[in-house]
Amino acid sequence: NVYNIRKIRADTKVYGLIGKPVGQSKRPILHNAAFKSVGFNAVYVPLLVDDLANFLSAYCSPDFAGFSCTLPYKETAVTCCDEIDPIAKSIGAINTIIRRPADGKLVGYNTDYIGAISAIEDGIRAGSWAKDAVVSPLAGKLFVVIGAGGAGKALAYGATEKGARVAIANRTYERARELANLIGGHALTLAELERFHPKEGMILANTTSVGMRPNVNDTPVSKQALRSYAVVFDAVYTPKVIRLLREAKESGAAVVSGVEMFIRQAMRQFELFTGLAAPEGLMRNITSSL
Ligand code: ATR
Repeated sequence: NVYNIRKIRADTKVYGLIGKPVGQSKRPILHNAAFKSVGFNAVYVPLLVDDLANFLSAYCSPDFAGFSCTLPYKETAVTCCDEIDPIAKSIGAINTIIRRPADGKLVGYNTDYIGAISAIEDGIRAGSWAKDAVVSPLAGKLFVVIGAGGAGKALAYGATEKGARVAIANRTYERARELANLIGGHALTLAELERFHPKEGMILANTTSVGMRPNVNDTPVSKQALRSYAVVFDAVYTPKVIRLLREAKESGAAVVSGVEMFIRQAMRQFELFTGLAAPEGLMRNITSSL
C-alpha cells in the first residue's frame, strides 16, 4: 500500500508528521496509500521534532510541501507559521501546515475542528435524536467539552459556531476558565462535571487522553454522571472501543467514535495537501485495518 521507493524523483513532494512522539502514528501508512491511490507524486514521513520553532526556521527545507502537526505542538505551531487560517486562529491550534507554492510561506490550518464537529453532527442525525434538524443538530443544545488543550479548543469553538451553548470541564480549572472566557462558555472542574445534571439531551465530548491505551481502565467521567447525555463523543481512538463510550452506550446514549474524527480530519488534510478529493473508501478501509 505504501509509496514505491523506486519512484521517488527530484520533483516528488515530501510531507511530514511533526510531533513527539510520532512512532505510533497511523498517518504515514494512511497518507502514503492515499497519495498512491490517486497518483499524487508525494511521500509522507514521520519526523520526531524536539524544537518546533527551530525545526521550521532552520531545518525545514523548501522541499517540504506540508506537514501534519500533532502532540505536543498543535498550539505552539500557531506562532511558528507565516500565516494562520482565520478559523485556526480563532481556535488557537493547528494540525496542518501547507507550504504555499506561490511564495513558499507556511500556512497553518485546523482540520480537527471540522472532522470532529461533522462526525458528531452526522452521528446525531443518524440516530433518532434531532433527525430532521434543518440547521445543525448542535444548535441550541448544551455541549460539554472535557479538556482545554488543542482538541478541546477546536471542539469548543466548533460547537459554539454551530449555535450550541458550551461548557468546558478541565483538570486544571484555570485553563477551562480561559477557554470559556474566549468563546463565551461556562467553566467547570472535573468534580463539578460529576454533579452536572442541568437537563436531558446534552452532548459530551472528551478531548483528553484519559482512557487511551495503555490506561484503558481510566475514564474522564463516571457512568453515573453520563446519564444526562444523549450523545457522547470521544476523540481517543486507541482502543477503538474506549471505556467512556462503552459506558455511555450502556447508559442509553448515542456514541460517536474518535475513529470517525480521525478519518474526517485526515481526509480534509489530504485535500489541503493535494487539492484533490480524498479517496474516502480507501482511507476508511486502511484506518479500520490498522
Ligand atoms: P490536545 O492538543 O490533544 O488537546 P493537550 O494540549 O496536551 O492535547 O491537552 C490535553 C488535555 O487533556 C488537557 O485539557 C489536560 O488537562 P490539563 O489542562 O489539566 O493538563 C487533559 N488531560 C491530560 N491528561 C489528563 C488526566 N490524566 N486527567 C485529566 N485530564 C487530563
